Amino acid sequence: MKTRILFVDDEPNVLSALRRMFHDMRGEWEMAFATDGPSGLAMIAEQPFDVVVADMRMPGMDGATFLREAQTANPGAIRIVLSGHSDRDMVLQTVRPAHQFLPKPCQPAELKAVIARGLALREVFLDERVKNVVAKLDRLPTVPRLYAALLDALSREEPSMREVAGLVAQDVGMSAGILKLVNSAFFGLRTHVASPVHAVNLLGLEIVKALVLGIGLFDRFDKESFRDFDLEKLWGHSFGTGRLAREIAEVEGAASAVREHCYIAGLLHDVGKLVMATNFPGAYREVITACQEGAGTILEMEQRVFGASHAEVGAYLLGLWGVEDAVVRAVYLHHEPGRDRHAGFSPLLAVHVANRLEHELVVIHRGYAINSLDELYLAASGLSDRLPAWREACAAVVDRGADTQEA
Ligand SMILES: [Fe+2]
Ligand SMILES: [Fe+2]
Repeated sequence: MKTRILFVDDEPNVLSALRRMFHDMRGEWEMAFATDGPSGLAMIAEQPFDVVVADMRMPGMDGATFLREAQTANPGAIRIVLSGHSDRDMVLQTVRPAHQFLPKPCQPAELKAVIARGLALREVFLDERVKNVVAKLDRLPTVPRLYAALLDALSREEPSMREVAGLVAQDVGMSAGILKLVNSAFFGLRTHVASPVHAVNLLGLEIVKALVLGIGLFDRFDKESFRDFDLEKLWGHSFGTGRLAREIAEVEGAASAVREHCYIAGLLHDVGKLVMATNFPGAYREVITACQEGAGTILEMEQRVFGASHAEVGAYLLGLWGVEDAVVRAVYLHHEPGRDRHAGFSPLLAVHVANRLEHELVVIHRGYAINSLDELYLAASGLSDRLPAWREACAAVVDRGADTQEA
């Protein structure tokens, strides 16, 4: 079946350009075009769409209002907002029903990629339980300014490494944070990284972007409003899980892009905890207390109290923030990998195992209910027998980090 896509823009020129640009997609896409919100809604009423793309600024019904109405009338559609304003955060804040954002004018390839991304993350974006939690957030957590600047630079034509490094260097605090992290023994680099230019060249853009996002989100966490949480430990666990997930990928001989995804997904896998604890401190305290009293795992308690887990909420936000879909899917299911139908090695598998091994090898406090490994999932992936090799490699990484820190 073809993917049904509705484009709404008040400028007929834009619509005819879209029609021309996507002519070659007719085999896969069934496209409809509307010049204003009300006629878009009328088309939805006739037959719902899989994807709805709307311009933000339109006379009469604006893009935000249209997408809100479309959300009610066509809840199963991925909603994308196009906006001349390049501040993604501001746009997503005002257009809460949007799942993806694209600055205008955009290239056809970019729009195609955003549509594909939205569809790949359908399960995450259209999860009612997650939507209910996210809808209760007064404000969406904002992304670090540097992260937004990097996304902006990347959405224009391919920036040079030097340009990217320049952006990173302008943020002195963030640069210091990145250098401190990548030079720690645990990161496992053989060279000393002395400058942002060096870091960007050595680690690549994707890793730098993920570090900026991770460091920024953790830095912003209001420790005063939520004292039950040991932020340092959660950051250590996140950083460690990324490192171990990458190690597992290396042991499996995964391609470099996959190793990168494993690392990033590990680093960001628990950001949902930060968001939930900051925004709903009372309810999250309840979750933690129940876990400490042995009522169940974090996941079970979150589901009981919120109806959705930190994995799902975190994935939704990472999806909104433009993190790659393989990473978002790995975060989404890191506690319930059995819900994924793919066999073989994947970032999801690496993060699921690394999360467990990190808890096992670096004991934070006893009595904490460690999430168990999903044996059935591992068996279905055909990689159960690799577990001892992964454990051994990860233990060596942890030992190396500990030795150098003591020295
Ligand atoms: Fe988790
Ligand atoms: Fe975790």
